[in-house]
Amino acid sequence: MQHCLDLAMLAPNSCNLQPWEFFIVRNDNVRKKLAHACMGQNAATTAPLLIPIVARTDTWLKHCDETLEVWPDAEVPKIIETFYSKVAKFQYGLGPFGSLGLFKKGLYGAIGLFRPVPRGPYTKSEMKEWATKSTALAAQTLMLGFRAQGFDTCPMEGFDHARAKKILKLPRNANIIMILAVGKRAERGVYHERYRFDRNRFVHEI
Ligand SMILES: Cc1cc2nc3c(=O)[nH]c(=O)nc-3n(C[C@H](O)[C@H](O)[C@H](O)COP(=O)(O)O)c2cc1C
Repeated sequence: MQHCLDLAMLAPNSCNLQPWEFFIVRNDNVRKKLAHACMGQNAATTAPLLIPIVARTDTWLKHCDETLEVWPDAEVPKIIETFYSKVAKFQYGLGPFGSLGLFKKGLYGAIGLFRPVPRGPYTKSEMKEWATKSTALAAQTLMLGFRAQGFDTCPMEGFDHARAKKILKLPRNANIIMILAVGKRAERGVYHERYRFDRNRFVHEI
């Protein structure tokens, strides 16, 4: 599990700001409460391990500063210093009551008439999407890691977010994107042959 978590955290992520968190629920009582919040679904009630995977929109600023402290080379290149101390803070900051986000939307909207510009994140919900993208890649990497070790997983979004958040005592800006059930599949644990719609509907060559 530790190895799988290390692999998950090597997932590509936006600006390497690592907006994820993983909760290893070992406590039986908490696991049962979480399974209940998952509305008693099979995967939640039968798996020996549940890992709520959380995307945070409030850690990026601290991580900007930390990046400059833990930079792996002896010297932090100037371009990196400027990026994490100024550019990223402007790029992801929303300001008081979202004022900076609104300002950026107007500014980039105008400049965007003439040249390509970043089109967000401008709002809290766009920041949520920003954190979710990177965290979802880490979640998939974690699933592949477990599979490579001979375990099976089921990602679940079918749970009561408010209850699950309360059980884990999460702050407001932490969003559980999925709860991962981990274990070994039962003999009839995969209900039917896997299927997908015709690939031509989804793959476009231009
Ligand atoms: C974001 C997401 C949420 C999911 N939520 C649930 C869930 O709540 N319960 C569940 O049993 N499976 C859940 N799944 C698993 C899907 O149902 C499953 O991947 C899909 O039906 C395709 O089946 P396959 O992966 O076996 O091919 C979820 C998968 C994803 C990616």
